[in-house]
Amino acid sequence: MDSYFKRYHKESGWPPVCNPSSKQVEKDVKLEDFIPLRYSRVPGELAGGIQSRESSKSIGRDKGLDKDILGTFLKWSVGALEDETGRRAYPSAGQLYSNELFIAVKEVAHLQPGLYKYHANEHALTFVNGNNDVTDALVQESIEYNFCVIVAADLTYAVDQYGERGYRFCLMEAGHMVQNMQLVAVSLNKAIVPIGGFVDEYLNSSVLPGEADLSTLYLVPVGRKMDDV
Ligand SMILES: Cc1cc2nc3c(=O)[nH]c(=O)nc-3n(C[C@H](O)[C@H](O)[C@H](O)COP(=O)(O)O)c2cc1C
Repeated sequence: MDSYFKRYHKESGWPPVCNPSSKQVEKDVKLEDFIPLRYSRVPGELAGGIQSRESSKSIGRDKGLDKDILGTFLKWSVGALEDETGRRAYPSAGQLYSNELFIAVKEVAHLQPGLYKYHANEHALTFVNGNNDVTDALVQESIEYNFCVIVAADLTYAVDQYGERGYRFCLMEAGHMVQNMQLVAVSLNKAIVPIGGFVDEYLNSSVLPGEADLSTLYLVPVGRKMDDV
């Protein structure tokens, strides 16, 4: 029998079962109850980066996207920091880094198409298999990509360390990773979207390597904005 978190993960697979009528209506807040806040720009490029972050709903392929751009994207979104601490660009409970990163490469100059695993400490890829097409897992149209990041959790490892709370930590860690990916992709003038609605079973059994007990949490296709000329 699967443990509770594994059953929960399966239960929350695609399609979602929801009951819209149960949605809580937000209580009205009276205008006089608001305490207005002021703000100024934060130093450096951060404010501009956050302002530009967006999820693209229509993505195509970018002929100019090469291995160095992929490397830059991975380094600054999910890579190891340029120091000796072993820390990365995103926080991780207990510095465990329970989530793994796979890159489905369709069209990246100087890199063969296929599925790769990213190793943050080495800032390197290893070839996994030829499965570079995640489109059968998508439940929406207009999404192509040069590469698509698959954020997958090793739930057993996470839960060995923290009990079932490790499941939460994987989801939280994925959010941190993908926020960075969006900020970096947009600063590289690439289109990106975080996709949480996908067919789990297809990815876990037909794309990711079979021997690993991995559960996909997020798909993150990267390419060209379709309204760019
Ligand atoms: C957990 C999560 C799941 C999401 N899943 C999808 C998805 O399946 N497909 C999609 O097109 N966008 C998805 N999005 C992106 C949202 O639609 C997007 O963030 C929202 O429309 C706000 O737009 P913005 O990110 O440009 O500010 C997801 C975002 C989050 C945080």
